Amino acid sequence: MPNRIAIIGAGNMGGAMFRGLIESFEKDQISICDKNQEKLDALNIGNVDIEQTLSNANTVIFAVKPQSFEECISGIETNLSDKLVISIMAGISLEGLQNRTKSKRVIRSMPNICSQVGEGITAWIASQDVSDDDKEITKKIFEAVGRQVEIDNEEMIDTISATTGAGPAYFFLLCELLAKNLEKLGFSEDDAKTLSEQTFVGSAALLASKKSLSTRCAFLEHQPMADVERQHNSLEESSLSAKELRESVTSKGGITQAALETFKEAGLNQIIEKAITAAIKRSKELN
Ligand SMILES: NC(=O)c1ccc[n+]([C@@H]2O[C@H](COP(=O)([O-])OP(=O)(O)OC[C@H]3O[C@@H](n4cnc5c(N)ncnc54)[C@H](OP(=O)(O)O)[C@@H]3O)[C@@H](O)[C@H]2O)c1
Repeated sequence: MPNRIAIIGAGNMGGAMFRGLIESFEKDQISICDKNQEKLDALNIGNVDIEQTLSNANTVIFAVKPQSFEECISGIETNLSDKLVISIMAGISLEGLQNRTKSKRVIRSMPNICSQVGEGITAWIASQDVSDDDKEITKKIFEAVGRQVEIDNEEMIDTISATTGAGPAYFFLLCELLAKNLEKLGFSEDDAKTLSEQTFVGSAALLASKKSLSTRCAFLEHQPMADVERQHNSLEESSLSAKELRESVTSKGGITQAALETFKEAGLNQIIEKAITAAIKRSKELN
C-alpha cells in the first residue's frame, strides 16, 4: 500500500513540509488540513474534511503549536492507533504523544525554519515500536525539506532546540550586527543591509557548495592559480568545513585575522557556550 501522509496544521512549518513533500512524493500521497481555511487557501487547497483526510492516511504529521495540541487531539475522532505519528511540536515527549494519540509508533522531531526553503535540518527520535520501514519514510519526509539526523536520546532534543532550532536566529543576529556596524561606519541603511545580507548568503552558499574552491581561494589568497589548484586538488570532490573555509580566507597577519583575534580575546566562544546553556535550560523549563 503506498504511504499516504496527512499533515495537521498548514502554518509556517506544516505549509513548508507540504510544499516539500509534494515534490518528493506522488501528489495524491500528501494531504494537509487546518481549521483555518485561509492557511489552506495560501497553499491552493480547497475545503478539507479533517476526519476523512486522517482516516485515509497511514502517516500523520502534527504541525500545530504545542499549546493547540490538546484541543486538536481532543477534537479528532479518527482512530490513530494503527498509524505512524510524527510530531514536529516543541516540548511534547514521545510518551505524551503515545498517550494522547494511542499510537505506539511515534516520532518526535525538531526541524528548523530553513525547511521553508528546503534547507532545513531536522533531528528526530523514534519510539521503540517504530519499524525500519517507518524510519525510512521518516527520513524521506524530512529530506523533502532539507537534511535529517536520527538521535537516540530524547534529552538531546533540548540541545537540538537550543542549537539548530534556534540557530537561524543566531545567524540572523550576526547579519543584523554587521549591517548595524556598516551603518555606523557611514553606509546608508539600504547599502548596509545589502552588503551584510549578501555576505551571509554568499558564505552559506560557499559552505553548501560541493564544487572546487580553487578559483575562489586563488582570488582570496592572491596566489597564482596553478599553485592553488595543486594545493586544493584533494578538495575538488568534497565540500569544505566551516573551519577549513575560515582558515582559507584568513591570511597570517591580515585583516580577517585582526578581527578574529578580537573575537577570541573578547571570549566569543564562551559567550556562545553560555547562550546555548541558557537556551537548553529554557527548553527544559518549557517541556
Ligand atoms: N516555526 C519554527 O521555526 C518551528 C521550528 C521547529 C518546530 N516548530 C514547531 O512547529 C509547530 C508549528 O509551528 P508553526 O510556526 O508552523 O505554527 P503556525 O504557523 O501557527 O501553524 C499552526 C497551524 O495549525 C493550525 N491549527 C491549530 N489548531 C488546529 C486544529 N485543532 N486542527 C487543525 N489545525 C489547527 C493553526 O490555525 P490557527 O492559525 O487558526 O491557530 C495554524 O494554521 C509548532 O509546534 C512548533 O513547535 C516550529
